[in-house]
Amino acid sequence: MNEISRMTEAKPIKTPTLPDAQTVTQVKHYTDRLFSFRCTRPASMRFRSGEFVMIGLMGAPDEKTGKQKPLLRAYSIASPSWDEELEFYSIKVQDGPLTSRLQHIKVGDEVILRPKPVGTLVHDALLPGKRIWFFATGTGFAPFASLLREPQTYGDYDEVIITHTCREAGELTYGAEIIESLKTDELLNEVIGEGFWKKIKYYPTTTREDSPKMGRITDLMRSGEAFKDLGVAPICSQNDRAMICGNLAFNLELKEMLEDYGLEEGANSDPKTYVVEKAFLD
Ligand code: A2P
Repeated sequence: MNEISRMTEAKPIKTPTLPDAQTVTQVKHYTDRLFSFRCTRPASMRFRSGEFVMIGLMGAPDEKTGKQKPLLRAYSIASPSWDEELEFYSIKVQDGPLTSRLQHIKVGDEVILRPKPVGTLVHDALLPGKRIWFFATGTGFAPFASLLREPQTYGDYDEVIITHTCREAGELTYGAEIIESLKTDELLNEVIGEGFWKKIKYYPTTTREDSPKMGRITDLMRSGEAFKDLGVAPICSQNDRAMICGNLAFNLELKEMLEDYGLEEGANSDPKTYVVEKAFLD
């Protein structure tokens, strides 16, 4: 048994003292800018893979009144809807109001979690298609960490292409580990079908540090290099569906590109051929 599973099994039993408190069960640091953590899940909380919730910590006491207010931010749930715990993937901003503190959480600590999941990166917001593209930068990988572990993704599509552009190679680790873990996940291989993960094509790229594939995904698609590397046909509105989650500039650029390919932005109430959500930063 490794360190991680031991930490997960040692579920601390504590009486919640915060409103909507959940207990941290695992913390993993990837780089000086990125970490993930898992926490308990409210028994009654349902969500669709790809959605986000508000999470946070109690803020500092007000100087005048001494009262404390919760400091909350939107976080995509990185775990799938069937998981008994919740997982989150976060940036660490050294002077960020929330993540400057959140990065120091430990197993047994409490976080505040408002159990009202919402979001557009859900299967319901897309019309049926053959191939789905997940486009992420940085912590925008989080909703796809959920959707890649969601059986419906493989039921709905023949091919699942996930692109992840980060500044540095170490920032790809979280995503790479999740994709690798699918191969040996006995439960998912049994539920979805042995070898389901072979439907996945993973395309990680870096922009500011050497790695096997350098460049922004947008540029690599524009030049045709990404399609060539992946050995797939370019995007067509009849077969392809897409979800985007990254920084604002990336989202806007990719939206425009997808619309040039003939895709249209969908919503929960009006499913179409692509959806977008920004990766929330502190
Ligand atoms: P770059 O290093 O060329 O800016 P960030 O950490 O700033 O959110 O960026 C995450 C990744 O997203 C970086 O690799 C960054 O590349 C890339 N990126 C930023 N803007 C765009 C864009 N408009 N299109 C594609 N990739 C982008």
